[in-house]
Amino acid sequence: MPTMTRAYSITAERLAAEAEAAGGDPSAIDVSKVVALDDLELRDLGPNDVQLKILAVSAEHNIDHAATADTINIAEARGGRMFPGNSALGEVIAVGRDVTKFVDGDIVVTHCNGEPDEHGFPKRIWAYDMPDSIGWYSKEAVVEEWQLIKAPLDCGLDLWEMAALPLRAPTAYHLWRRALGMYRVKVPYERQARLNVLSFGGGVGELFCMLAAAEGHNTFFCAGSKERRDALEEFGITGIDQKQFNRFATRDDVKAFSKEVKRLTDGEGMHIVCDMLRGPVFEAGLAVAGRCGVNVSAGWQLSQVVTYNSTIQSVKQVTIDHTHYETPPGCDAATELYGSVFKPTIHDEVYSFEDLPRCFKEMHDNTQTGIPIIRVADELPDSVKHLV
Ligand SMILES: NC(=O)c1ccc[n+]([C@@H]2O[C@H](COP(=O)([O-])OP(=O)(O)OC[C@H]3O[C@@H](n4cnc5c(N)ncnc54)[C@H](OP(=O)(O)O)[C@@H]3O)[C@@H](O)[C@H]2O)c1
Repeated sequence: MPTMTRAYSITAERLAAEAEAAGGDPSAIDVSKVVALDDLELRDLGPNDVQLKILAVSAEHNIDHAATADTINIAEARGGRMFPGNSALGEVIAVGRDVTKFVDGDIVVTHCNGEPDEHGFPKRIWAYDMPDSIGWYSKEAVVEEWQLIKAPLDCGLDLWEMAALPLRAPTAYHLWRRALGMYRVKVPYERQARLNVLSFGGGVGELFCMLAAAEGHNTFFCAGSKERRDALEEFGITGIDQKQFNRFATRDDVKAFSKEVKRLTDGEGMHIVCDMLRGPVFEAGLAVAGRCGVNVSAGWQLSQVVTYNSTIQSVKQVTIDHTHYETPPGCDAATELYGSVFKPTIHDEVYSFEDLPRCFKEMHDNTQTGIPIIRVADELPDSVKHLV
């Protein structure tokens, strides 16, 4: 008897209808009508498989990319229908005969490295471009053992905070260890211990700042949301209001931002910048790079293409780097930092499973004040009841 479950899907057909209604403007697409509840048949449990009851998930920005086809039409490329969701927290409800790391009742988080290369870096992302991968915006799921990590239930975070991290924390962790490593090739610790670190963006950006601040660096977060900037001030992270610089719409805005960064850093500029959005944010980040600076990003929300003056970057010894998601061991390492370093800002509403499409509309409209969480399970296991 196949196990059926309820799961959200994105179809090329729905997307085409909404794109037409939006008059061809992807930003006007109503994503809440593209992401819809569907029936999903789970595969039979194989020897290395784990069956999960999904407890909570976080909304991830790649669903917006998928539901508006703004990078590629991934639903079409996946055969017209995809089941999204590449970040989840769940309870193990069954394990295959060769599974050794997990038993029934364990609480786990997923990682979304769909196909590691020979160094562990993802060639494809689970529930996005990995063929046949089924995502976790569903009541139940079957995954292979290697895709799961035990949730650190005693890390001090509540359940929703933990559910915010499976995708964003490894991304931030990888960005940070890579940016710092590159900077240290040029300027070793004994020559300069304390760096100026800037991040733009939302969830990943704030976690990047937490890593930098935890190591004692002079850290800045540039975003529009006051709630988020205020939350980060509590970690000693200085907020910069991006709207004060009109989100870098003109050269004059970038100039004004550079002047402000010079003031904040005693003329030195930023040694490490995490961008996440590219587009005008990339230009602004590059403009404030100090000598030997490093500019990293794992996102391209505002533009897939960047241009820069290579002479200026050579003379300043600036490194521009493009990263993606972590390796599986890197995901384990990032999970160790839940609660001690990563204390995510959560949007003030925890959405119900039925309200997931509205959550994505609000993410698209950029009205959320922190990482959005969707509660999937009505009934929580006893082991986590004290964490809500
Ligand atoms: N490659 C990977 O493995 C990977 C992993 C995670 C994320 N990503 C990508 O990275 C990007 C950010 O991800 P995330 O999870 O941090 O997103 P998120 O939590 O949804 O945050 C996005 C936030 O960026 C902020 N932002 C800052 N400057 C902006 C600007 N100029 N225009 C629009 N928004 C701006 C907005 O907040 P304010 O209004 O407060 O400024 C917005 O809420 C997404 O495109 C995502 O797909 C890639």
